[in-house]
Amino acid sequence: MKQSFQASAPSNIALIKYMGKLAAETGSNRPANSSISFSLNGFKTHVRASVIDGVAEPFVWAPLRKAGLQAPHLSEHGRMRFLQHAERVMKRIGAGLPNGKSILIESANDFPSDCGLASSASSFAALTMAIAGLFESKLSVEDLADISREGSGSSCRSFFIPWGIWDSEGARAAEGLPGEDKLWHMALIVDDSLKRVSSSEAHKRVASSLLFRGRPERAEERLRQLMDCLRRASGNDGVHAWNRASELVWAESWDMHVLFETSEPSFGYMVPESLRVLSLIRELNLKYAESETYRKPLVTLDAGPNVHVIGWRDAQSEQMKDELMARVRSFARVEDGVR
Ligand code: DP6
Repeated sequence: MKQSFQASAPSNIALIKYMGKLAAETGSNRPANSSISFSLNGFKTHVRASVIDGVAEPFVWAPLRKAGLQAPHLSEHGRMRFLQHAERVMKRIGAGLPNGKSILIESANDFPSDCGLASSASSFAALTMAIAGLFESKLSVEDLADISREGSGSSCRSFFIPWGIWDSEGARAAEGLPGEDKLWHMALIVDDSLKRVSSSEAHKRVASSLLFRGRPERAEERLRQLMDCLRRASGNDGVHAWNRASELVWAESWDMHVLFETSEPSFGYMVPESLRVLSLIRELNLKYAESETYRKPLVTLDAGPNVHVIGWRDAQSEQMKDELMARVRSFARVEDGVR
């Protein structure tokens, strides 16, 4: 066992969404369908786990104070959930607390905590890695991802950079897709207030939508098609394949948000500015599509109002990005997720 260990993990944005759990009430975070995400190395959480003494509680949390990092705003419930996960990881890796000792968990993000991007994915993945590192666990990254999944489902994909796929066999790296050198990412922050419906609650509620019937099959089919398109995006027929991927990602984002709006009781995350961004992207796509080599960006919303845009690193697409940034500047804040 070490005295202290620090780890970091990126956030991720799902292109095919984990939405709806099998046996939602059990808290096991088994997804109703497979998902795939792109990791955002510009949005990382850092967690330091240390063995301390002289404290009554076995696990305590504090903000990690370091230059360039910002402490997350953790509610009492959030802090409890985080510390319970630390305990869970210890159990799963077979580690025990030495007599009279406690574990101090310090965490912070390297992106603004008030920008509506704070993610349980990066924080639970980093926490899992920090505890595993503290106790010098020899478990594989796939096994650690599976333990992390129990804390927060989407965190299991944050172990695999840049693409994480999560299906019934667990999470692993998705190979053969365009790398970070080929892609740019922007998060357009139109609203940074806290979510009124947590994603854990959303997972439960979507099961009440009539449109949830058929949703797992639809998501699986879309995932198969998306993987195929992304694999072909760098090849001869790359422009066509990439633009098909853009349509699939757009449809998937709407699919999830329509599930929210058709749940009972219904709920939603979009704000007028979300739609303003989406229609602006459509307008720019139509303009730039006059060129046959134009690649439309992949556009998706998480369970929130902010719009994630992933584009191909080429002159046309970057020009579209610059124009988009200039036109949203008055009502959205732009954060770069890939550094
Ligand atoms: C909309 O991983 O936050 O971001 O397992 O209950 O912690 P829990 O849920 P969480 O769900 C994320 C849902 C999503 C889509 C996704 O990331 O796949």
